[in-house]
Amino acid sequence: MEFPIINLEKLNGEERAPILEKIKDACENWGFFELLNHGIEPEFLDKVERLTKQHYKKCMEQRFKELVESKGLDGVQAEVNDLDWESTFFLRHLPVSNIADLPDLDDEYRAVMKEFAAKLEKLAEVLLDLLCENLGLPKGYLKNVFYGSKGPTFGTKVSNYPPCPKPDLIKGLRAHTDAGGIILLFQDDKVSGLQLLKDDQWVDVPPLRHSIVVNIGDQLEVITNGKYKSVLHRVIAQRDGEGRMSLASFYNPGSDAVIYPAPALVGKEGEEKNEVLYPKFVFEDYMKLYAGLKFQAKEPRFEAMKAVESN
Ligand SMILES: [Fe+2]
Repeated sequence: MEFPIINLEKLNGEERAPILEKIKDACENWGFFELLNHGIEPEFLDKVERLTKQHYKKCMEQRFKELVESKGLDGVQAEVNDLDWESTFFLRHLPVSNIADLPDLDDEYRAVMKEFAAKLEKLAEVLLDLLCENLGLPKGYLKNVFYGSKGPTFGTKVSNYPPCPKPDLIKGLRAHTDAGGIILLFQDDKVSGLQLLKDDQWVDVPPLRHSIVVNIGDQLEVITNGKYKSVLHRVIAQRDGEGRMSLASFYNPGSDAVIYPAPALVGKEGEEKNEVLYPKFVFEDYMKLYAGLKFQAKEPRFEAMKAVESN
């Protein structure tokens, strides 16, 4: 099976049904897919990429080199399990933006990232409704569940993975599943490195110009009662070249949103094969737990939330 690449160009025309089917298959079998012609202009994405790489060179690269030196990461001889070979900063968009507070962004980059966030927020909500359509949930169901009292949490992690002398010993980013809802990734169009685990094999997510990679977070696994699953993924840094850029935008529930399997996706009581498989909890409580357990398996997190629920 090939990694699912889905062209949305004719989504609102005669090809809607087959496109929805491809998305459904990807959600059920991969937890990941890659979108082309998603509606965000290629010229705009080029600008985001250029400014992000420029910002890295100007403000982040030196800091990263100093970190590598201070921790002696260049010369490690054994596998490193408590660090990632990545340089990052986080832009929060919702419920309250932090873009104005970040010290070293220039005005152009700040404005462009604000626009980028608005476009991705819109795309995330379109995708949530496509998922609703595939799941047989009413339009707006997922958006409403995520809304809580103050709307969704939405942010972008800007990452660069510089060339790494020991990619076999230090991961760019260690394997994990994403805690949140739906994740939209704009990644380097030339440098690969993102891999997902499928049938016990690491599969490359192909770098494709102007594409947006989408993946399912733990919350969608809960809401769909396991029909869709969050999938382990990692980043392998490259030994040579320019390094890899990635901007991962997390469209997550609001902190007080209550997350639980959608009743429509759970069978009636007594129907064994359709029982409720996941707990009900407040999203913020899940995130507190996740903060310390990101790089561990998700199942114990779900079990811990079940234990809280039954108390
Ligand atoms: Fe992730």
